Amino acid sequence: MNIWPLTADSPSAVGGVPLTEIAERFGTPAYVIDEEHVRHRCRDYRKALHPHRVAYAGKAFLCRAMVRWVHEEGLDLDVCSGGELALARSVGFPPERILLHGNGKTPEDLAAAFDYGVGRIVVDSVGEVARVAALAGGRRHPQKVLVRVTPAVDPQVHRAMATGVEDQKFGLSLASGAAADAVRRVLGQPSLTLAGLHCHIGSQIREPDGYATAARRLVAFMAELGGLPELDLGGGHAVAYRPDEHGLDVQTFADRVLGAVAEECAAWGIPEPELTVEPGRAIVAAAGVTLYRVLAVKQGVRTFVVVDGGMSDNPRPALYGSRYTVARVGRRTGAAELPMTVVGRHCEAGDVIAADVPLPADVRAGDLLAVPCTGAYHHAMASNYNQVARPPVIAVRGGRAWPLVRRETSEDLIRRDVG
Ligand SMILES: Cc1ncc(COP(=O)(O)O)c(C=O)c1O
Repeated sequence: MNIWPLTADSPSAVGGVPLTEIAERFGTPAYVIDEEHVRHRCRDYRKALHPHRVAYAGKAFLCRAMVRWVHEEGLDLDVCSGGELALARSVGFPPERILLHGNGKTPEDLAAAFDYGVGRIVVDSVGEVARVAALAGGRRHPQKVLVRVTPAVDPQVHRAMATGVEDQKFGLSLASGAAADAVRRVLGQPSLTLAGLHCHIGSQIREPDGYATAARRLVAFMAELGGLPELDLGGGHAVAYRPDEHGLDVQTFADRVLGAVAEECAAWGIPEPELTVEPGRAIVAAAGVTLYRVLAVKQGVRTFVVVDGGMSDNPRPALYGSRYTVARVGRRTGAAELPMTVVGRHCEAGDVIAADVPLPADVRAGDLLAVPCTGAYHHAMASNYNQVARPPVIAVRGGRAWPLVRRETSEDLIRRDVG
């Protein structure tokens, strides 16, 4: 499966701009993001799910340009903090099309949500109902809420990515009655409207079966409540990080899940709810490429290729054992490929970007490397470990490259240190 952005011309150029040129102009490491790819994926989702709703999950990657792009493509937006909401607000994303998530919403998150007037708040604990209701009390219209339900579906993914099983921190259990308790409490609050139910069963899910099962369980619960207008099935659609992998095809997902919802609603005799899905990774992952410069090549038990970034700009291998491919760009020598391990510059032996990947035998310091499929949960998860400043985000489109987020500097980091 293709793991490069849609506009990539082999790995050497994206959006009509040579990657070597981007590295020269903006330095390395750098995240490159293909605007056309993002827009294309938004359209794929809207088309496959029409007339239902698609909300981009901002946690995957968010900056002001990204908010604008998803707005222009007609998607809703899912945010999970006051910070993400502030970004959306700064470019005027319509509040009624925003959902606020979070298993632990701070008072500031909720205050920001009410201040901007977000369309839906997804309740994730029983105690949150009264807090949200109290804030909604002073308003003219009731606040729409969704109750996040744990449907006990195991999507067979990494443990840290399974969020629909009983033994994890998100949602309210259907089986234990916590979801029913939260629903009762919402219905008992005049300042709230129960718009519907929500679930998010995990991440990197390759097959639609788990979604269909979760949808059926939530529809059955809705039927007990006499039907509800909305059903939000979360995100988690897999993408291919390497050519031998496959992602979740959105049309297959839509056919299967819309079919399951229709069937189940007919069986229970309730009207079909309006669906929302919340893809993050599937919209933006393959739009991104990270550029690194090789700092050193070390021969030992294996060959280590040391680059000028690492776990501070990509923590996913250390967190989930994620695997990537790496390509050298800009210098073609015809050298045979050998297995090498691309590692970062941080003070951790686990600071590995890609283990045992084929690279030309003559790779050397100064070479430029590109890692595809790094648009989601890379910039968003970046840290300043070792006081390393975070890379810029560079957009490309139609032969033009421009910065969306500038490179962080040591001065930026020192400015925060007020002691
Ligand atoms: C509630 C919710 N919706 C959507 C998403 C997006 O998931 P993905 O980027 O895997 O599609 C997440 C990810 O954690 C989530 O927690």
